Amino acid sequence: MNTFFSELGRTILDRWKRENFSLAKFPELARAALEESPPATKVQLAALMRDFLLDEEQPLQTDSDFGEPEIVVYRHPRFYIQLLFWMDGTTAIHQHEFSGAFHVMHGSSIHAHYDFDKPRSVTPYLRVGNLKMKDMQLLETGRTVPIVSGQQTIHSLFHLDSPSVTVVVRTQHDPGTGPQLNYLPPHVAFDPHFSDTLTIRRKQLLDVLEQTEDAGYVALLMEMIADLDFERGFSILYHCRGYLQQLDQWKPVIRAFVKKHGALAGGVEATLKEDARRTFIRSLRSTITEPEHRFFLALLMNAPTRDDVLMLVKQRFPKEAPVDTVLRWVTELADVSDEGIAILDATFPTAPEVESESQFDLILSALDHFMKRGKKLPAVMRNLTATEVEELRATFAGSALGVLTP
Ligand SMILES: [Fe+2]
Repeated sequence: MNTFFSELGRTILDRWKRENFSLAKFPELARAALEESPPATKVQLAALMRDFLLDEEQPLQTDSDFGEPEIVVYRHPRFYIQLLFWMDGTTAIHQHEFSGAFHVMHGSSIHAHYDFDKPRSVTPYLRVGNLKMKDMQLLETGRTVPIVSGQQTIHSLFHLDSPSVTVVVRTQHDPGTGPQLNYLPPHVAFDPHFSDTLTIRRKQLLDVLEQTEDAGYVALLMEMIADLDFERGFSILYHCRGYLQQLDQWKPVIRAFVKKHGALAGGVEATLKEDARRTFIRSLRSTITEPEHRFFLALLMNAPTRDDVLMLVKQRFPKEAPVDTVLRWVTELADVSDEGIAILDATFPTAPEVESESQFDLILSALDHFMKRGKKLPAVMRNLTATEVEELRATFAGSALGVLTP
């Protein structure tokens, strides 16, 4: 049993009891206790891990699959303290059915807060609305943030270091604040714990048809979309989008969905497109491990505009102009070969009118030019036609780097 967390738990218990276990008081109370006695400076991670592995006397653990892993270090019937380890993981945009506070004990994270405007419940498990980012900040080791249950705290974390460890002081469960929704920007919220077993099995059966390359797949899917309600139709679209795109059949299927559900379906195509972009960036985290590059990925995935990206870059790397920092990362991440240049998912075939040693210079200058919204083309781009310049811009705009080149 870790003495530090036992004492922290005891302190919080004594103070909260004096407040008659008021739910409204808990987030600030948890935050104050973590700030007075910050685990980031008071706990040795290696010693804590050793204790957890060797000492039999540990609080009852959960079977949660949140965290990589989650370990419980203090437990009381009203609240508990958990440590969340994160290796590759990043959280979905989510809200909570509990309240308390979290503290960055090891590593650092990008943290974003959101509002969900004009929510409309389609079913108890699915809502549509407008998700808007309120703020985005860099949380360095030692920072503490309160969590209020329900829609007041809609947030996401993108962990920059591996492992990142957060300490969460949390209530067991705040009645009436569920479900614990996940958000798909910009327009959909859903309950990830809702288990619609018929739809799960139907998706698995569609996977069978996909894997056997069944010729009737698209026609059958169109029939399903024409017949299903909004919630289950959305779930099927979410599942099948990648394969439909491979088949070049996404457009007719999404059109059929919009035709059936009208205005309610207005934000679905943009939401699923944004989800594909985020999924791709998230997948890069397994191969890109350099903390600066992971920071860059976090910004590309989460920051809503170019100005937000540059502001956060400046905040973390104040000694260099933020555009230069971004160009340095792009240079480090680029893959230059005889066939052309690839930067993340943006591919640029070799430009015949540009000398081979200037090919990368051209791409980098173009990105610099688009990022700065320059009026005058840089010298290396002046031989390009207006169409070629627009094609370059469109390649950046349609890629993971798109937020930089609006
Ligand atoms: Fe959270």
